[in-house]
Amino acid sequence: MASLTIIPGRPLRGTISVPGDKSITHRAIILTALANGVSTVARYCRGEDCLNTMRAFQNLGVRIDESVEELRVYGKGLWGLTEPSGPIDCGNSGTGIRLLTGLLAGQDFFTVLTGDESIRRRPMGRIVKPLREMGATIAGRKGGELAPLAVMGSRLRAITYASPVASAQIKSAVLLAALFAEGTTRITEPRLSRDHTERLFQFLGIALRREGPTLLIDGRPSVGWNAAPRLVVPGDFSAAAIFIVGATVVPGSDVTIQQVGINPTRTGLLDVMTRMGADVQLLNRREEAGEPVADIRVKSARLRGVAIGPELIPQTIDEFPILCVAAAVSQGETIISGELRVKESDRIATVSAELRAMGAQITEKHDGMVVRGLGTTEDNGRLQAARGRSHGDHRVAMSLAIAGLTASAPTLIDEAACIETSFPAFHHTLLELLTERR
Ligand code: S3P
Repeated sequence: MASLTIIPGRPLRGTISVPGDKSITHRAIILTALANGVSTVARYCRGEDCLNTMRAFQNLGVRIDESVEELRVYGKGLWGLTEPSGPIDCGNSGTGIRLLTGLLAGQDFFTVLTGDESIRRRPMGRIVKPLREMGATIAGRKGGELAPLAVMGSRLRAITYASPVASAQIKSAVLLAALFAEGTTRITEPRLSRDHTERLFQFLGIALRREGPTLLIDGRPSVGWNAAPRLVVPGDFSAAAIFIVGATVVPGSDVTIQQVGINPTRTGLLDVMTRMGADVQLLNRREEAGEPVADIRVKSARLRGVAIGPELIPQTIDEFPILCVAAAVSQGETIISGELRVKESDRIATVSAELRAMGAQITEKHDGMVVRGLGTTEDNGRLQAARGRSHGDHRVAMSLAIAGLTASAPTLIDEAACIETSFPAFHHTLLELLTERR
């Protein structure tokens, strides 16, 4: 799919599913590959990012049988990985490359990790620094700031690390390295980032303790952990977020998204959208793989702008592009800030430029943006049709598709193939909602 055409004029109606959570799928593959025995990972994310992590483990000597519905992972135990014969390509995935670097730092072999052009621009120093403190030998461009990274596996020692950024990728890279280190590693972060690693550790029985804001993990567990007979990955909240905003801003919509992960470290968008006036209900709450899950029903509603405080940033981090679309059509001003320049694209620059071309009123700040909504007291505003492009960022592409639904003529989005990284069936799912019979 080189470009995507969005034809507005119809509401979004019906019941859909979204792919399995991308963050949890990466972690499920990693931890079942290190388990003792054969695990099944069901409803996993078949986006390119997670398939790259799967291929990485196949190259590290782990047998993984793949079908559309599930992965069967033949875990090799904590010390069972073997040296790959070539570089590991993590594609577009920041989570893949950062978590794997942490994991591979403590092996007794050599690996090279790389990725696409976007990955080779993204900061790696944030994980390389604590890993080097643990004794890791990692080389990379700009002193280890940029991939490709060459990891000469070595004997690691535990550290006490206060991460300067609330980042689940930093936290998880250190936790994975800590499994192979001697002693007890302690890690704190300025605010709680997504806690999928911690939850999956607990689900699989990997010992991890929390003392106030500090996570503690003892390295080199003597017996490892058992495989998961059936680990069902919850639906990806970040994929659902696209339709939560879509159903809200397109008049006459009524959408139910089934089986979505509602981990509170991910659902900042629900808090923000509720404060903006959205009509969102969480139904049929339950738990899967140690994660809270619900069906989410959304009906269209009129929105007003809000200020998003720093306390909401970690749990909204991937939703700022789609939140900008909501803000652009709402009534009043929305202030957005966060670590948005170092994602799959510089999201402050890319989202501002693309939505401005569609008539949105956005001012860029160095750490965020101010959006003056086009809505009135009676109605949400409408954007204008334009020819946009994703800048290689899947979340920008999907957000522009929703923006296009509020316009009065078709919108064309170029470079839409990047949607494959997280949501290969996105266009199909959107068409399903647009053509639901009433
Ligand atoms: C992720 C953590 C977040 C998020 C990314 C996925 C993860 O990144 O933006 O899409 O799976 O750990 P940071 O750790 O850089 O905040």
